[in-house]
Amino acid sequence: MELDTKLKSDAAGTASGQAAGKKVFVKTYGCQMNVYDSQRMTDALVADGYAATDDMADADLVLLNTCHIREKAAEKVYSEIGRIREMKKERAALGRETVIGVTGCVAQAEGAEIMRRAPAVDLVVGPQTYHRLPAVLEKVRSGGKVVETDYALDDKFEHLPQPKRAELARRGVTAFLTVQEGCDKFCTFCVVPYTRGSEVSRPVAQIVAEAERLVEAGVREVTLLGQNVNAWHGEGLDLEGQSTEWGLGRLLFRLAEIPGLARLRYTTSHPRDMDDELIAAHRDLESLMPYLHLPVQSGSDRILKAMNRRHKAEDYLRLIERVRAARPDIAISGDFIVGFPGETGEDFEATMRLVREVNYASAFSFKYSPRPGTPGAEMDGHVPEQVKDERLQRLQALLVEQQQAFTGSMVGRTMPTLIEKAGRQAGQRVGRSPWLQPVIVDEKAGGIGEIIEVRIMSAGYNSLHAEPV
Ligand code: SAH
Ligand code: SF4
Ligand code: F3S
Repeated sequence: MELDTKLKSDAAGTASGQAAGKKVFVKTYGCQMNVYDSQRMTDALVADGYAATDDMADADLVLLNTCHIREKAAEKVYSEIGRIREMKKERAALGRETVIGVTGCVAQAEGAEIMRRAPAVDLVVGPQTYHRLPAVLEKVRSGGKVVETDYALDDKFEHLPQPKRAELARRGVTAFLTVQEGCDKFCTFCVVPYTRGSEVSRPVAQIVAEAERLVEAGVREVTLLGQNVNAWHGEGLDLEGQSTEWGLGRLLFRLAEIPGLARLRYTTSHPRDMDDELIAAHRDLESLMPYLHLPVQSGSDRILKAMNRRHKAEDYLRLIERVRAARPDIAISGDFIVGFPGETGEDFEATMRLVREVNYASAFSFKYSPRPGTPGAEMDGHVPEQVKDERLQRLQALLVEQQQAFTGSMVGRTMPTLIEKAGRQAGQRVGRSPWLQPVIVDEKAGGIGEIIEVRIMSAGYNSLHAEPV
């Protein structure tokens, strides 16, 4: 292949020597975990001699960190590769090489098939092996295409280098921190158990050390990430110094002790893993923000069963009651799928009833997308596209109404706001309310990283305008 020979002639010196002066651009699709992984991949490559760039056309290495959750998400990648191929040609005309890599969940799900469909791709690396990226690039340089999609036994996080403090500081005052990866739940619609593998929890000490590093670099708010974040468990110490089993609730209590860590969040939770200690954390921890993303997917027991969610609608509603009893002002957010195979009009009405009963502050809703290799794709009773469209429209209209009512209810209230960054308009800053809404204030109200008390003056579609009090 033409590309291989060119790369071959480029191969000389040590790994870092080769990377020196080269630039990497990472484009991220999908969930927050991909955002976190993209940063850590960048960290590994920077440690290897690359510089990160925001300009794809300027990059010697382009990585697409992909998402496989719905067909549309996965297909986007191929159209993007088509565009990059054109850019690669233009750069080649100027005598510059471009290496194209696909990482993330499409990489894991499709592996070498990606190169058959898109021969411009040089490397395919799955989510468990990012720590091997420098070695993979070394192989690509010496003239090969590389596919690396093992579920590695070694811990990727332990091997990924931490970024320099200045780099962490540049990334802002809020940060993601992955504490758990993978999923053992096997909902029948979902690819995640196949793309991310089985549930793995990071050890307490690793998590605490990373949180402390973030805070030292100026981070005020940390969001703990996991595909099933509340399935996180680990070995910690009890009050007598004895080793005991911790759940996410206990971990949050521990992280809340870190001086300077003002705000904690976590996502995404599964209803089956919401235990008493986690609910107690919402009651007792001031720094745990009053926001819970707890997907239910459907309000119909028949559909929940077919989805293998392993709980009933009623269980979810009672759980929400308990969480609200612990933290009355908590905002509930969720995910919904309409048109799962076999979903009748009556099943859909059950979802609408559940949404009315819960009253969501925010939610994501999707049309069911059959995914290759999942049990749902093989089921009978696929719902016609037009019916899915109608149901999605009705559901979204209700969810938007609830979200706007929630946002509107903020007007006149005072609340602490974490100033995050400069606003789009000169003289403005954007902060974050405890309920995750962007809050727009005058830049004189406070510096980035400060938590200030503001009064909400008006509400837009999703954002709030505020004045300091
Ligand atoms: N781990 C999380 C969600 C992961 S995927 C959880 O357990 O809730 C994010 C959301 O995408 C899911 O909550 C679901 O609503 C949606 N989703 C997943 N697979 C889908 C599919 N095949 N079609 C449509 N939506 C899907
Ligand atoms: Fe997918 Fe279900 Fe696991 Fe969430 S719990 S990642 S929806 S299989
Ligand atoms: Fe997508 Fe993978 Fe996240 S499929 S939603 S990027 S875990």
